[in-house]
Amino acid sequence: MSVAKQDVSLVTGGAGFLGSHVVEALATKGARVVALDDLSGGFRENVPDGVIFVEGSILDRVLLAEIFDQHRVRRVYHLAAYAAEGLSHFIRRFNYENNLIGSINLINESVNHEVECFVFTSSIAVYGRNQVPMHEDLVPSPEDPYGVAKLAVEQDLRACHEQFGLPYVIFRPHNVYGERQNIGDRYRNVIGIFMNQIMRGEPMTIFGDGAQTRAFTYAGDIAPVIAEAPFNSEAAGEVFNVGADRPYSVRELAERVAAAMGVEPNIRHLPSRNEVVDAYSSHEKVRRVFECPPETSLDVGLARMACWAREVGARTSKAFGEIEIHTGVVKFRKTVTLRGGNTIQSRRINRPGRTTTAPRPARQFIKLLPIAFLPSGHGDKSFRALVDRVFPLQGNFALFVFTARSQHWMLSLPKRFSKLHTVKMVQNSWCTVTSASATILQNR
Ligand SMILES: NC(=O)c1ccc[n+]([C@@H]2O[C@H](COP(=O)([O-])OP(=O)(O)OC[C@H]3O[C@@H](n4cnc5c(N)ncnc54)[C@H](O)[C@@H]3O)[C@@H](O)[C@H]2O)c1
Repeated sequence: MSVAKQDVSLVTGGAGFLGSHVVEALATKGARVVALDDLSGGFRENVPDGVIFVEGSILDRVLLAEIFDQHRVRRVYHLAAYAAEGLSHFIRRFNYENNLIGSINLINESVNHEVECFVFTSSIAVYGRNQVPMHEDLVPSPEDPYGVAKLAVEQDLRACHEQFGLPYVIFRPHNVYGERQNIGDRYRNVIGIFMNQIMRGEPMTIFGDGAQTRAFTYAGDIAPVIAEAPFNSEAAGEVFNVGADRPYSVRELAERVAAAMGVEPNIRHLPSRNEVVDAYSSHEKVRRVFECPPETSLDVGLARMACWAREVGARTSKAFGEIEIHTGVVKFRKTVTLRGGNTIQSRRINRPGRTTTAPRPARQFIKLLPIAFLPSGHGDKSFRALVDRVFPLQGNFALFVFTARSQHWMLSLPKRFSKLHTVKMVQNSWCTVTSASATILQNR
């Protein structure tokens, strides 16, 4: 006797942070849910009881076919992704395979099984360096592979709808935080990173001066809206920004996180990185179409998350396994030898008792922008003028200044440089960097 299949909602990334909140919202509505997750960033315990959990990857096409054969999947909520936006520059192949090809596998199955609605969590990363607040009518212009993959999936959904009629709804959330976030991921989720650092007794690290602005969204405010999407006919084929309105600087955020965790803010600034400075969006459209819950204030949301974080405790923060692009991402120490011109020959050295796992060749040549040689007697003002002329670009530079033998200068940097390395010349036109000041380009 064949058993009639029951309608299910499939939530990919269902053991992840936002995915588990969507699973919970669906379960509360009485939906039968299958949560699919490879646990690369999620946790089995995030999946509520009563939900069918499948451990596996959206890259596994055989597994996807089995899930769609076994269950009558009516709605797909696609949240599985590796969402480390800043890191995506350095893990380009992984990013496109996991976030783009994985999505296409799922879209193919959804077309073949005539799914009623495909809900996709994109991101405001698709807007790139755009006007703020970002609204849905802006022309997207993503700045990193993560945003490019998200936009590609959005566009594929549109094309797929045109060709095969697959109904879809796209959400572009931003800076979501709350209980069940993976606070051990050092590459993303600034609030989780701060809380983890505080619990580990470390300073909170901020890239650059912390003036960059973001609006931080409490997960509980948006998960019910995402869950509701297939049931709202006005939402079909639309794209919605979703999240909190009010932007905060990262510096202010750090202070509020410290307050929520009951500690004094202890902040360490890292070199600034290539990122969109201001990123927050308008939510007029989603409020017109959905009944959105009232916004949870940052302080209330942080207090709830802090309470949960203290319960689960600090998590070990592991480095991402396979970095594909090494320029500008790896923290290492080196000896630098300089002979005129602007080519630096460098050799990596490890300090005694320290190891580096950086997969770099032992010897390399780094072409730097013109290097500033400052004759003795230059003051701070002429130094700044020189830096402005020689390094006009904003960027994640470490700036090396070569001074005369045994000189010690107090020099202030133009704001965009957060790190200055003063290098003492030890041999006429050759110099050797041996001190800790030669740490360059730190990245989380
Ligand atoms: N959190 C945010 O601020 C934010 C902002 C905008 C968009 N988003 C999007 O929302 C979604 C959820 O993000 P999150 O913050 O909850 O991240 P998360 O890492 O907590 O959740 C993603 C889940 O997907 C799983 N996953 C990753 N690759 C997979 C694969 N190949 N197969 C199966 N499972 C896989 C991970 O194990 C994880 O549990 C993502 O698509 C993300 O891009 C999140």
